Amino acid sequence: MKRIDLRLFTITTAAAVMFSLSLSAQAQDASSLFKSKCAGCHGADGTGSAMGKKMGAHDFTTADVQGMTDAQLTDIITNGKNKMPKYGSLPPDQIKGLVAYIRTLKK
Ligand code: HEC
Repeated sequence: MKRIDLRLFTITTAAAVMFSLSLSAQAQDASSLFKSKCAGCHGADGTGSAMGKKMGAHDFTTADVQGMTDAQLTDIITNGKNKMPKYGSLPPDQIKGLVAYIRTLKK
């Protein structure tokens, strides 16, 4: 009986640890993805690098961008727009994560 209790405890604990690890990995993924792929033009804080602004990128912290729907942001990231490159080759989950990350940059 004791043996079974212990095994159950181990399994439950392992599952809980794995679950919380995957949650934090997802949040971190989006911010590191943004820093590696997007910050060059949009700046780490989303306000836009000098080069990005020259190309026509808008400040992510403003109502202009935050007022766009998730569908609009997803569309621009997936298909690009003018000088914004398209990132449709990223898995949909990662694009969704990037949209959620952009929402956290709101002023
Ligand atoms: C080479 C520079 C460049 C890179 C890299 C880049 N973007 Fe952009 N992005 C732009 C430009 C320029 C625009 C403005 C397009 C327009 O409206 O003409 C833009 C527009 C956007 C918009 C719409 C809001 C706005 O500023 O007009 C979103 C959302 C966006 N980019 C997300 C991303 C994400 C997420 C990544 C990384 C996966 C990324 N961008 C990488 C240049 C870039």
